[in-house]
Amino acid sequence: MCKKPYYITTAIAYTSGKPHIGNSYEIVLTDAIARFRRMQGYDVFFLTGTDEHGQKIEDKARDAGITPKEFVDGVASQIKGICDLLNTTYDKFIRTTDDYHEEAVQKIFQKLYDQGDIYKSEYEGFYCKPCESFWTETQAVDGKCPDCGRDVEKAREEAYFLKLSKYQKQLEEYIENNPDFIYPESRKKEMLNNFIKPGIQDLCVSRTSFKWGVPVPFDSKHVIYVWIDALSNYITALGYQPDKQSELYEKYWPANVHIVGKDIVRFHTIYWPIMLMALGQPLPQKVYGHPWLLVGADKMSKSRGNVIYADQLVELFGVDAVRYYLLAEMPHASDGSLTFENVIERYNTDLANTIGNLVNRTIAMVNKYFGGTIPCNTCSGDFDDELKATAVNTVPAVTKYFDEFRIADAVSEVIALARRSNKYIDETMPWALAKDEAQKDRLSTVLYNLIESIRFIALLLKPFMPETTDKIMAQLNCDISDFSTLSSFGALPEGHTVSTASPLFERIDTVKMMERIEEMYKQEEPEQPKIPGLAPIGIEDFAKVELTAVKIVDCTPVKRAKKLLCLTVDDGSGTPRTIASGIAKWYKPEELIGRTVICVTNLKPAVLCGVESNGMILAADCAEDDVKVLFIDGVPAGSKIR
Ligand code: MSP
Repeated sequence: MCKKPYYITTAIAYTSGKPHIGNSYEIVLTDAIARFRRMQGYDVFFLTGTDEHGQKIEDKARDAGITPKEFVDGVASQIKGICDLLNTTYDKFIRTTDDYHEEAVQKIFQKLYDQGDIYKSEYEGFYCKPCESFWTETQAVDGKCPDCGRDVEKAREEAYFLKLSKYQKQLEEYIENNPDFIYPESRKKEMLNNFIKPGIQDLCVSRTSFKWGVPVPFDSKHVIYVWIDALSNYITALGYQPDKQSELYEKYWPANVHIVGKDIVRFHTIYWPIMLMALGQPLPQKVYGHPWLLVGADKMSKSRGNVIYADQLVELFGVDAVRYYLLAEMPHASDGSLTFENVIERYNTDLANTIGNLVNRTIAMVNKYFGGTIPCNTCSGDFDDELKATAVNTVPAVTKYFDEFRIADAVSEVIALARRSNKYIDETMPWALAKDEAQKDRLSTVLYNLIESIRFIALLLKPFMPETTDKIMAQLNCDISDFSTLSSFGALPEGHTVSTASPLFERIDTVKMMERIEEMYKQEEPEQPKIPGLAPIGIEDFAKVELTAVKIVDCTPVKRAKKLLCLTVDDGSGTPRTIASGIAKWYKPEELIGRTVICVTNLKPAVLCGVESNGMILAADCAEDDVKVLFIDGVPAGSKIR
């Protein structure tokens, strides 16, 4: 039989830095859904990837002294590594710097321009001359540049625009005729009331102020501005090009669901459908805007110092426990929270006590009372029907919750079955039955029911904790894993032989674990500032750095780089020295002229945005966004510092 296609995607993550556990939640959530649909028999295509263009990346690469491509290559492989660490089963990992994607995006842009949906106009904003940056009214802070704090002036910049307004009515009709398109309902209301009904504005889709982007094919001054580039990934990954056929695209498009965070629902339910309408392509069936994961009650951010990464959690708790926590804890519409105490609590209660204990004691009893082989399944008794009904009913309940993206509720159903099974042990008391030879068949039937119930649990856990499923199935010594075998109770044959029991989840000692976590974060602290933790060096290494007192005699902004200042300094040699320094955000030229600073004078020259820099002045990272130059006024220029 031909399997039904199912196309599911995550948002593509920015490659501006290592993703935190909040970003990673999305890939785990999407993976759980993809795995469940595969179990149901769908032919799933699961797409994820990285969003690699834009000003921020260009700036970060410049700060790091590498090319943007080198920068995104590093972060993209880190992001892919985290997806793999979390055992996610994506079928394709797209990067917006992939050749086929860039080519298709240019063709899409060209087509929309040729048919009049993209037009050239002017982008009005506030211009900061020294930074050469455009800011919108909301970005400019009290008429000042948010980057350098200087006055901005009203100005216009040439840009291309996408005619969103033309499609307003068509989009409203689509949303009305497809009530499930924006999900959940709260997000749909938000989109309609805050963004669609007030009137959709045309969207600026090109920039001339930075270069790290896909060039506009017919106007090389411009690069295509983020959303046309980023959103197109969902179709370019399938091989879509406006002028070519693609088998994958024919098979999988339109997507069954785009899984995205609540902050970018707007782009996926307004810009994206309009782009597709303009391209004459069908629209995705659903956009699910999931809530955000908070740390305690706070947003995760470097400046708050509360960022948690997936690899740290996996090191502490293991992959499956991290997946379990994220999926069991996150509600489907309102934000969820992560605290270490809560992770430990859930681990001990749900994983160690409920699932681990059930599997361990059941398999141990089969081995103890029957040498591992359950002889029969013929002697039914009290409580059996209820256990069987719970097992069988769990399957449609889990399915229904997956259909509604209520993944935490789906998890709860499986845990409830495990609890019911533990209760069945207390009710039937196998240890008491074992004492009576006449009850042998009843004991065998009780253990059969438990093993079969555990098989249900193991298979239903697969979308959430795939490794645990495999471990349980190995202990059960069972390969009856087809989802269809869960439509009725009893697919396991009589006379089945189990393997040996071994604990699935060791209970966590909360005090010891909290100490370990503290230790981990203590070690982390030096890595929080921009300077990574460095290995110790000897005095001979330090002596290789030539530090000299230099006096700043001139200072000007650098035209092509808003973060740089070009300093001319007196280093005592009689020849002026030029230095490019990334401190424009914190200092105006006039604050620096005449001051004496510390300079690394034997640094190899480097060209930064057209300026040859012959040294580096020293500054302190006082806070995440607060840099102070080390002034040593009064020290004669040329003095060596050691
Ligand atoms: N690059 C854009 C998406 C383009 S899609 C065509 C982007 N990238 S992102 O890296 O900032 O975010 C990636 C995803 O992670 C988004 O769906 C975002 O909502 C989600 N999350 C970011 N922080 C999150 C939490 N704290 N919790 C849950 N999801 C979070 O946006």
